[in-house]
Amino acid sequence: MANASGPEKAGHIAIYPGSFDPITNGHLDLIERGSKLVDRLIVSILSNDTKLPLFSVEERMEMLSEVIGPFSNVEVDCFDGLLVDYAARKDATVIIRGIRAISDYEFELQMALMNRRLGPGIETIFLMAGEAYSYISSRLVKEVFHLGGNISGLVPPTVEARLRNRKDI
Ligand code: PNS
Repeated sequence: MANASGPEKAGHIAIYPGSFDPITNGHLDLIERGSKLVDRLIVSILSNDTKLPLFSVEERMEMLSEVIGPFSNVEVDCFDGLLVDYAARKDATVIIRGIRAISDYEFELQMALMNRRLGPGIETIFLMAGEAYSYISSRLVKEVFHLGGNISGLVPPTVEARLRNRKDI
């Protein structure tokens, strides 16, 4: 989707929104693949999340910043309020979301349709999770870690290190 019509166009900007509490290797795979589809990819953390997050927005932004180094067109941000309003402020025309299993589909469809109603100029693009990552979720990673299970290979090393440094898990 890279824009070949000249430097006067900003190109395709996409938002990859989520909780990222914490980022997993599944998210990272999506960031890598999504970054190849657009000119700029903004990975953005919902900051006024009603779910009680384990990591603060600042910590989650730090972890994301630590792992996006290899991708030159990817940046990290946070937002609150409506996603479509935020996307419009960023001049983004695409929202990227991942789908792991059919169970994700129902909620994702609802969100995509609501977002289309609220912001008809913004298209949601779904990427299928990489097969190696389709069972990974932030919630399960936290649960397995909490119960003493091995989470290496499921999250970037920086996330694993930060989990180990938390005394409250
Ligand atoms: O990683 P998550 O928790 O599945 O991400 C959910 C997220 C952040 C994408 C979603 O909750 C969201 O977009 N919230 C912003 C509020 C909003 O725009 N709601 C109406 C659209 S459905």
